[in-house]
Formats: sequence, structure tokens, C-alpha cells
Amino acid sequence: MPSPAVQFACDNQPRFLEQLKGLLRIPSVSTLPEHRGDVRRTAELLAAELERIGLEHVALIETEGHPLVYADWLHAHGRPTCLCYGHYDVQPPDPLEEWISPPFEPTERNGSLYARGAVDDKGQMYMHLKALESLLRVQGGRLPINVRVILEGEEEVGGEGIASFVQKHPERLQADFALISDTEMFAPDLPTLCVGLRGMIYTEIEARGAATDLHSGMYGGAAPNPFFALCQVLAQLKNSDGRILIPGIYDDVKEPSAGELAAWRSLPFDEREFLRHEVGSTALTGEPDFSVLQRLWARPTLEIHGMPGGFTGTGAKTVIPAKAAAKVSMRLVPDMAPQKTFQMYKRHVESLCPKGISLDVRLIHSGDPIVIGVDNPYVQAATEAMQEVFGKQTVFVRSGGSIPIVGDFERSLKIPSVMMGFGLPDDNLHAPNEKFSIANFYRGIESLIGFFERLGHG
Ligand code: BES
Ligand code: MN
Ligand code: MN
Repeated sequence: MPSPAVQFACDNQPRFLEQLKGLLRIPSVSTLPEHRGDVRRTAELLAAELERIGLEHVALIETEGHPLVYADWLHAHGRPTCLCYGHYDVQPPDPLEEWISPPFEPTERNGSLYARGAVDDKGQMYMHLKALESLLRVQGGRLPINVRVILEGEEEVGGEGIASFVQKHPERLQADFALISDTEMFAPDLPTLCVGLRGMIYTEIEARGAATDLHSGMYGGAAPNPFFALCQVLAQLKNSDGRILIPGIYDDVKEPSAGELAAWRSLPFDEREFLRHEVGSTALTGEPDFSVLQRLWARPTLEIHGMPGGFTGTGAKTVIPAKAAAKVSMRLVPDMAPQKTFQMYKRHVESLCPKGISLDVRLIHSGDPIVIGVDNPYVQAATEAMQEVFGKQTVFVRSGGSIPIVGDFERSLKIPSVMMGFGLPDDNLHAPNEKFSIANFYRGIESLIGFFERLGHG
């Protein structure tokens, strides 16, 4: 027999999905200034929804960037307090021409809902609200445990606002654990808890050569080219085996435990399948001495994201640009520290600077790597709740992605996080045709209800 709350969620599935579509129609792209109003409108919509379902102290909390949305319900005396976290901002939708249906017109296709933010993270964040709504509706406005909700609109741009709020006002988010649905399941139908994330440093290197753009015929051969300088520098940061060449960079890398490695080996992972269906290239790269999962979850990386500058229009323009830049990030694993890593990186990049060029190496944002202890009642309840809904044993994985706030929750609030995600490996996060399995949206809500109910029974 499903609980009354699960029954309520079941009966209301079509409405939940329509409401999610409404949320997805607002282009809350946090990195683009022209969407500032849309980001705020999304926050307001969520605040109104939290109010409507019966949470208290609903408020928009202003930050230097986009607002936080807060709400709570704290009347389950003697029960634990859950901090529900999610982010309502999304990545930019480009390249637009690759989308089969427009990014901000949520469209159902093959059992999935396609839209920017469908899985990362609006759809997953919304599951929390719908689970809470279901519980509140059938229990006369009460919840089985205490809940605080905190939603941010800057996760995709580094999350400065929430980080400083957590640091300044830890008491306002005081809880026993955080609950985050912003990760993926390891495989379809395989209930998964994420227990580790990589950290990151996101940097920009600006190279300057001549005082102004130059005619490449009149000056080429004598004047320094900042793009070439960047190519030379970048090419020396990693070798063809994927090994990062910054001195000392691996010193603090902590090996996963033997138990963890054994568990990863027993996950249903097919390297060829991964190459063909997820990556879609002809070969995988990276350190040959480590398994693919180890490379993704427990090894640092260095990637180039873009090189703005110079001429990128149609056709040809013969110019030696005065300046050029490279956006470069590193993913960090336990126990690498972002500040220390950045200093090593910066020093090394500067040491490689070619003559006639000046380099400016800047840190844009950073976040700590994290591993979560699984030995607590919250992870235990989550394991059981997912198991019950999916009818399979829950697996523990790490993820190569980053959610900077998880480290802040641990450091400032001293609480563990339960990362219960329902994305799928092919959901196209940050890419064209992002989607969220509609079945997983519903199963996610059901799992979350089960999770809250379990913790309420003590
Ligand atoms: N939800 C993702 C992180 C993620 C993706 C975790 C897949 C686990 C599995 C999050 O929204 C994200 O994209 N984070 C950024 C962080 C950054 C901008 C600080 C990332 O990982 O690039
Ligand atoms: Mn996310
Ligand atoms: Mn993301």
C-alpha cells in the first residue's frame, strides 16, 4: 500500500509536470546579464510556490548576485532537520541550432522532458517541493521532519552568494544534514547515491603582446602573437597521456580506499558503450594506468573551455591580435586545496611565458572536492528509500562534477550531505537537448517522500 503522500503524488503527476514546464519556460541563465530579470522571476515563482504549499518564513534573500530563496517548516519536535538545497539557475542554451525543440519550450519526447534546466537542476530541485507538498497536503499541513529549503540562482557561476551567506549566517541554515538532488544515477533503473564530488578552480589566462592589433603581413615574423603564446603555454600543461605537468600537482591526491575501488569495479560499466554512446568519439583519453571511473572520479584534470579574442567572424581577417585569453579549469580531488592548487598553477603558467608576452592569470571561482561519509542514518534512510522505489540495491558512486556548496555545508554547518540524484548519464547536462526522464521525476518524488517518512518514524 503506498502511503497517502505517495498516493497524492501519484494522483497529481500531470499537474506536477505542467508546473515544472512553467518553471522551465523562464530562461534563468545566471551567467548572462540580459537574463538577470528572468533569474529573479524564477526565484519569485519558487517563493510563491513554497508559500502556497504551506512552508513558512518564505523569503528572497538578496546577495551581490542573484537572490537566494529560503523557506522552512520547523514543528516536528524531536525529529531531525533537513536542509533541502537546489539551484534554479541554468547554463546558457547555446549552440541553439543543435536543439531539436527550443531550450525554453519544454517538450515531451520519448518519455523525457526536453528543456534547458530539465535535469540540472530545476526538475530535480522541483522534486523536493513536490515531495514536501504531497506530505503537507495529506498530513494536515505537517511534515514528518523539520525542513529548511535553500535555493540558489548562481550555482552555475560558482555560487559566491550562497557561500558567503552560509559563512555569515550558519545559524539560519542549521540542520542535521543537507539533501541535494543535482547528481545522476549510474545507470537507468539503478538507484544511486553520490558520495563524492570533484572540486575545481576556474581560471582565465590573458595574454598581451603588441600595444594594438597589427597587420599580420606588415608585422608577422617580428611581432609576438598572444594566441601562439597561449598555445605554447597550454601545450606544456598536460602531456599526451593526460598527465598534468605542473610540479607538485599530484602531491595531495588521495587514493580511494581499496573498498571503494572494488565497489567501482563491480559497477555495470562498459567502456566501449561509454565511448560510443556517451562520448561519441573514436577513443578515450587520459592516464592509461587508471580505470575510466578512477580518471573521472578520483584524478584531477585540466581542461580548456574557450579562447576568446582575435578574429572569429566569417571569412578571413589577417590580424595579429593585441590580446587573447584562455578559459582553463582544473577539477580537484581529495585532498587537493583550491587556493594551493591555483598558486602552483599560476606560478607554473607564468614560468612558461614566452618573450614579448605578458600573462595575467586570474582565478574566477573555486570549490573544494568532497567525499561524504556513508555511516550516518541519513544516507542509510536514503539508501532504503531508493531501494524500495526502484526495487534494486542502491549503489554508491562518486561523480566528476562539482557542487561547491557541499564543501561549505560540511565546513560551515558541519553537516553531511545526502546526494540523491535522478538524472541519467545521457541527459545532456550543459549541452543541447538537455532532458529529464519523466518516470524519474515521478520516482524521485516518491523516493523523497519515502525518505522523509522514514526519518520521521525515527
Ligand atoms: N549538477 C552539476 C554538477 C554535477 C553534474 C554533479 C553531474 C554530478 C553529476 C552542477 O550544476 C554543475 O554543473 N556544476 C558545475 C560547477 C561549477 C560551475 C562551479 C560543474 O561541475 O562544472
Ligand atoms: Mn546542477
Ligand atoms: Mn550544472
